[in-house]
Amino acid sequence: MALTGLFLITFLIVHAGVNSSIFLNDGGKTFNSIAHFMSHNWILRFIEIGLFAALIVHIIQGLILWKQNRQARPVAYHINKSNMNSTWYSRSMGILGTLLLLFLILHISHFFVGTKVALYGGDQPHNLYEEMKLVFGEWYIVAVYMAGLVALFWHLFHGFQSAFQTFGLNHKRYTPIIKAAGAGYSVIICILFALMPLAFYFGWIS
Ligand code: HEM
Repeated sequence: MALTGLFLITFLIVHAGVNSSIFLNDGGKTFNSIAHFMSHNWILRFIEIGLFAALIVHIIQGLILWKQNRQARPVAYHINKSNMNSTWYSRSMGILGTLLLLFLILHISHFFVGTKVALYGGDQPHNLYEEMKLVFGEWYIVAVYMAGLVALFWHLFHGFQSAFQTFGLNHKRYTPIIKAAGAGYSVIICILFALMPLAFYFGWIS
């Protein structure tokens, strides 16, 4: 889970970085040309297969882990003061991940499917920027994205440092640094993503 998680964490840096080109406010010129390059580069297309494979493996491993945890303690503790030794979000990784999956199904149906149909259907170059403008013109879609990003924030906030712990990196000096890096990463990535639908909806970019 840690390995696929770190791969997905890296993907989000690239995804947020590339999408941030919309803030140049150049009518999507830069963003569309990067998107065009990425969708026509066969090395990136190959990595994309790895991305979806990692996502599926991450979900399957999560389900297995959840099942193993339940089997390890079929009878619940009589007294369970779980909030004394763990955080609510570390205990809620399964539900946060499920919310994220629902968000992703919606997200992929919004952007990925249309782009690929245009790519392989021989249409005109797909204007992904205009498509984003259209999608984020609806308040309820913007609201769903904000909810999805709240789930993403807590999932990353715990997942980032948990991945390093899984690799055995639990050290008096380094663990606080990893936790701080994870917190910084989660805040920056989620704020960047949240600004994208908001910028279109409120007309900060056109
Ligand atoms: C809220 C801000 C976001 C915006 C504006 C956005 C925009 C986009 C766009 C335009 C695409 C299509 C790219 C293409 O097909 O060339 C895409 C694909 C994708 N997005 Fe996002 N995204 C956002 C957040 C997220 C988040 C939070 C995740 C994951 C948790 C995510 C995961 C993905 C995945 C897995 C794909 C398919 C990757 C691919 O094209 O190979 N996105 N996104």
